Amino acid sequence: MRTEPDAGLFITLEGVDGSGKSTQARRLCAALEACVGEGRVVRTFEPGGWEGGAPLRRLLLDGTAQDPRTELLLFLADRSGHLRAVIEPALAASKLVLCERYSDSTLAYQCWGRGLEMDFVLGLLELCGFVRPDLTILLDIDPDEAARRLAERGRADSIEAGGMDFMRRVAEGYRELARRDPDRIITVDASGTEDEVAAFVEAAVCRGRSAAAGWGTGCKT
Ligand code: TYD
Repeated sequence: MRTEPDAGLFITLEGVDGSGKSTQARRLCAALEACVGEGRVVRTFEPGGWEGGAPLRRLLLDGTAQDPRTELLLFLADRSGHLRAVIEPALAASKLVLCERYSDSTLAYQCWGRGLEMDFVLGLLELCGFVRPDLTILLDIDPDEAARRLAERGRADSIEAGGMDFMRRVAEGYRELARRDPDRIITVDASGTEDEVAAFVEAAVCRGRSAAAGWGTGCKT
């Protein structure tokens, strides 16, 4: 946790495809804006959430980058650009950054999902020196239920199309990451209704950020 008096706050939202991240990010963003003021919250996403990120996002999602190492390096290149262009300036301006997906996605998808060696990926992440999130909300859902939700929405990009075994490994990866870093990663049951999950997420964020000076006051959520 960064502790400078005027430091911003960096929250990431994680979970398998179909876990409801975008819906919950939208709701959490509105709740946080009501709490700290509209101009103080920046909502963003990976891959591709920065000027210059669109071609990288396309390459990653259309299946062009099939080789796991190539895919990994593209995700890291995207994160590097995203940090410099969006996340770091917002944190430097004492804003609250809410990001859908970040380095836990890389570990869950590229290590557990694609089978890349954990030490190799952790080593690269360390070398890149990416900012560590203050708080991560993991939307935990049975991958079969998540797949049903995606099917209802008619969505299957190249990574989702990796199949159920892939998604089950990713879900297990996320759970293991949460076990290893319980101070940062708060797991929320994402199997309920949108309203139920939103209430859990807001409560988790309030709890998690109360440790960060200046961000816990005056919030009803
Ligand atoms: P996206 O459509 O943004 O996913 P969702 O809406 O489900 O969050 O697609 C991003 C895909 O990229 C998703 O399948 C997860 C994958 N991904 C990785 O494999 N590694 C990463 O580091 C990141 C950021 C995403």
